[in-house]
Amino acid sequence: MALVGAQGNEDEKMILSLPKERGWGKAPYFYFFQNFWCPSISLQGVHNFQKYFQAKDNDVFVASFPKSGTTWLKALTFAIINCQHFESLVNHPLLTSNPHELVPFLEFSLVGDVDEKIVKLSHMTEPRNFATHLPFPSLPTSIKESNIRIIYICRNPFDTFVSGWHFFSIFMSESSHKITIEEAFERFCNGVIGFGPWWSHVLGYWKESITRPNKVLFLKYEDLKEDISFHVKRIADFLGCPFIEEEKGMMESIIKLCSFDKMKDLEVNKFGHHLKIIENKHFFRKGEIGDWVNHFSPSMIEKLSKIIEEKLSGSGLSF
Ligand code: A3P
Repeated sequence: MALVGAQGNEDEKMILSLPKERGWGKAPYFYFFQNFWCPSISLQGVHNFQKYFQAKDNDVFVASFPKSGTTWLKALTFAIINCQHFESLVNHPLLTSNPHELVPFLEFSLVGDVDEKIVKLSHMTEPRNFATHLPFPSLPTSIKESNIRIIYICRNPFDTFVSGWHFFSIFMSESSHKITIEEAFERFCNGVIGFGPWWSHVLGYWKESITRPNKVLFLKYEDLKEDISFHVKRIADFLGCPFIEEEKGMMESIIKLCSFDKMKDLEVNKFGHHLKIIENKHFFRKGEIGDWVNHFSPSMIEKLSKIIEEKLSGSGLSF
């Protein structure tokens, strides 16, 4: 972690004292930090995000556990917030930019020249639209204490794991540390995955959505797949920009623009790169519910089902 000065030394000492596990994917290690497994490559960004970011009351955050449908929700949220500016959708930014460019993850982008980036963020057109994978308790205080709105998406843990397995395996070819799907599964079951445990992440936002429904809108990927119109309406209502009857056509266009087939087929998503790290095409794999049946053995099903049942018991949340 490239921290400088006396405070930097203290922070480095603190990091060295944290429990640590081998990572999978881009991060060589995961550190157990603030009760979640933080990918080593994100530690600096998380630190900067927590320390320097100042929320504005009209900010909109997309939050998620990785591989839960974040790309889709980013696209929908961006399109809804900006629907007055791009009425025809012909020149829509989503046609030429990947959703991750338009709605950046702050824990990944607040690295390098942080002072300059923070100033730039403060001058952005409002409402600003950002994203995060941080668990709720680790969000910067100004986010938790302000009136900003957070839209959270989660997905059943079986498909989340399988989607993550495919995604993070891409980086394994460049890493000396390779693991099998069985090993990755064991780690997932032990909670050892970037921003995990999965259940703590989901429960953190679930509880907040119950106590502060005007602050956190809790969505499930499967529900969006089942009835996208209903959920797009919910998102627009939550953001305080409901679609009126005459705007129904606009809503349908947004849904089409953000659909898996449309997005996957765009030049930018077929051939572009995100942060020079990953090809955009990897954010669009199958986009289906239930691919896990092609990867899980009966014993894996039994094991994860038991863990999830136990961890979510009494919460009112189920998958
Ligand atoms: P699969 O790997 O199961 O195909 P995230 O965006 O959080 O990284 O999640 C990625 C998952 O969302 C991938 O799932 C991806 O295919 C799916 N996805 C991406 N864009 C989508 C869209 N517009 N509609 C539905 N699913 C989408």
